[in-house]
Amino acid sequence: MEKTVQIENAKKFIEYLETKSTAMSDSLYRNPVLQYTCPERLAHEKEQLFGGYPLHLAFSCEIPEPGDFRTDDFSGVPILLVRGADGKANAFLNVCRHRGAPVAEGCGKGQRGFICPYHAWVYGTDGALNYIPGEDGFEALDKATHGLRRLPVQEKYGMIWAKTAPGEDFEIDDTLQGVEHDLAAYGFEGFHHFETGVLRPKMNWKLVIDTFLESYHIKVLHHKSIASLIESNVATFEAFGINQRGIYVRKNFDELRAKPESDWNILPYTTMVYVLFPNTVLVVQQEQIETWRVYPDGDDPNAAKMHISLYTPERPTTESATRHWRNNMDLLMKVVDEEDFTLGEKMQFGFRSPAQEHLTFGRNEPALAHFHGSLDRMLAVAAE
Ligand code: FES
Ligand SMILES: [Fe+2]
Repeated sequence: MEKTVQIENAKKFIEYLETKSTAMSDSLYRNPVLQYTCPERLAHEKEQLFGGYPLHLAFSCEIPEPGDFRTDDFSGVPILLVRGADGKANAFLNVCRHRGAPVAEGCGKGQRGFICPYHAWVYGTDGALNYIPGEDGFEALDKATHGLRRLPVQEKYGMIWAKTAPGEDFEIDDTLQGVEHDLAAYGFEGFHHFETGVLRPKMNWKLVIDTFLESYHIKVLHHKSIASLIESNVATFEAFGINQRGIYVRKNFDELRAKPESDWNILPYTTMVYVLFPNTVLVVQQEQIETWRVYPDGDDPNAAKMHISLYTPERPTTESATRHWRNNMDLLMKVVDEEDFTLGEKMQFGFRSPAQEHLTFGRNEPALAHFHGSLDRMLAVAAE
């Protein structure tokens, strides 16, 4: 985050803490409960959002060298991300052009190509079909048009995005709509991938994202864990088109106030929560970066799945550094899973009852209103 933006936010926090206030939207927002439970709405979201927008799939550091690859099925199609010999990130549908077997599994390093596990057709890291065993049987087949199907992909700011269907290339800044200035300033290119975990709560995928979007609940739901670290109901909020940034302030903020303005660096005193439209929550927390890439789990509006990745400023080289990051990874998974998602699953259960037709987002919950407003707006645009 740029220095001027840090100072601007620090000043807002000084005001909010002195006046016991927080960023406010103009009015209450009523969000239909059906949006969390309706199979038709989910089908629409899957088609328009997960099928239409570039999705953030990985940090560059997850495939740093040529031949490094990872597969990802969470978007609903099997994706193979691999760094080519030319150093560029490629994305393909992980589907053999012979009879459809996945050509790669999991992740790996320094692969020169991919040998399909069914009949051993061989593909390069550029997706080209290089070799067919028993080629006599396929004389009439044009190898040049039977490479892995390429997906539009872009690598920028140390992050990788891809679309889930073949088509035109995209420019990710068109989707980031201004939030890229923050991303560029963090220098993710130099980060290290510590670990990725998976959670599959019985909650709508949007309800998963909602849990990150206000600090109003911290002293109540998290009274035994992070309430001692983060102020409740004190946050700044900024929209970047369909994306957004909320910043929560930590209880050590007075240390920053004691410093001259020119030395203000808000990172040690805040937790930044971005939504990168449509489904990625990016958390910048002191030195660590987390991403929560959240998807619907199949066709069930009551179920989500997500990849949770932790990135560190450098590769841990000592046992104590590894232990430190391991504890952080365990803590973040535990707090969210045991506190937010345990309650979220009960909320999802209640959504299916006739209790009410709308949830109410307070004026002090502007990030929730913006997230759902953006989704509704983009789905409506797609329906026109
Ligand atoms: S399905 Fe891949 S080689 Fe046959
Ligand atoms: Fe929470």
